Amino acid sequence: MSGAGRRTVIRAEQLVKAYGEFRAVDGISFEVPAGESFGLLGPNGAGKSTTMRMIGGVTQRTGGKLEIMGLDPERQGPEVRAHLGVVPQQDNLDEELRVRDNLIVYGRYFGLPMGYLRQRADELLAFAQLEDKAGAKVDSLSGGMKRRLTIARSLVNEPKILLLDEPTTGLDPQARHVLWDRLFRLKEQGVTLVLTTHYMDEAEQLCDRLIVVDKGRIMAEGSPAALIREHSSREVLEVRFGAERNAAVAGQLEGVGDRVEALPDRVLVYAADGERALELIRARGLHPLTSLVRRASLEDVFLRLTGRSLID
Ligand SMILES: Nc1ncnc2c1ncn2[C@@H]1O[C@H](COP(=O)(O)OP(=O)(O)OP(=O)(O)O)[C@@H](O)[C@H]1O
Ligand SMILES: [Mg+2]
Repeated sequence: MSGAGRRTVIRAEQLVKAYGEFRAVDGISFEVPAGESFGLLGPNGAGKSTTMRMIGGVTQRTGGKLEIMGLDPERQGPEVRAHLGVVPQQDNLDEELRVRDNLIVYGRYFGLPMGYLRQRADELLAFAQLEDKAGAKVDSLSGGMKRRLTIARSLVNEPKILLLDEPTTGLDPQARHVLWDRLFRLKEQGVTLVLTTHYMDEAEQLCDRLIVVDKGRIMAEGSPAALIREHSSREVLEVRFGAERNAAVAGQLEGVGDRVEALPDRVLVYAADGERALELIRARGLHPLTSLVRRASLEDVFLRLTGRSLID
């Protein structure tokens, strides 16, 4: 979905956050239309959380403009927060309170009435598949359950925009899929999602459009498919010749694909047809220990743009 013609709900223009001389966010501009699922993809320290905190109005920006539903999060913090649901990178649930009470107490901060909150808490427990944990202590929950509770809590005020900072980091694959499913449902209901991740598969699954961020700057912007088309070949052949030989062999692979990238543990050959590239390599008398053809991913886009891997 391009979001063309839809109202812009977040507008960032030359956003800067400096800590002394160091610019954690160094002139970032983007717009998010209503209902879009927008991602910030980047490695550790890229400035993703800092950007999210500026949107949420909990960190003051050093420079640039920022508008959330036409409001400035610094000057109109409470109005902005009324529209936002916030899922921080670290769960900050109240461990003293039981699961359901976490939802109710959080809702009280927004001044929501008890009658409404009791009903909303039950709806959200069902949504987060935590109904049977309603009376449990928070510290007895698994990591995935805590994450689902944090997301449920962020929805107490029926936000139009949900900010999710690394929603599934540290969760096992099954817990991640449960969470993705919940986020899809919110998107179907028209909630605008802004999420950060350093998982390329998460970005590919959830984001209509994303910015690739590195060292506080935007390296590229587009839909996952468009970014892959623009910055990579269709397929990637991964070949391993052994740690000692990878770099040397990579030098002999000129012309077998569009581009060759030597990593410490393997050589990546970018080509429209990976199997064909493998045939060409064998025809040169080179025999990899292992080979694998896969479709190009956002990881390849990131490698191309920065020369580094997303997860270090
Ligand atoms: N309060 C602070 N004081 C000084 N430097 C900070 C502060 N907060 C963040 N930084 C620095 O700003 C940079 C960006 O941090 P940020 O947390 O935004 O990165 P991130 O993209 O969210 O990374 P991660 O994937 O590890 O969560 C980092 O180099 C970090 O050390
Ligand atoms: Mg972060």
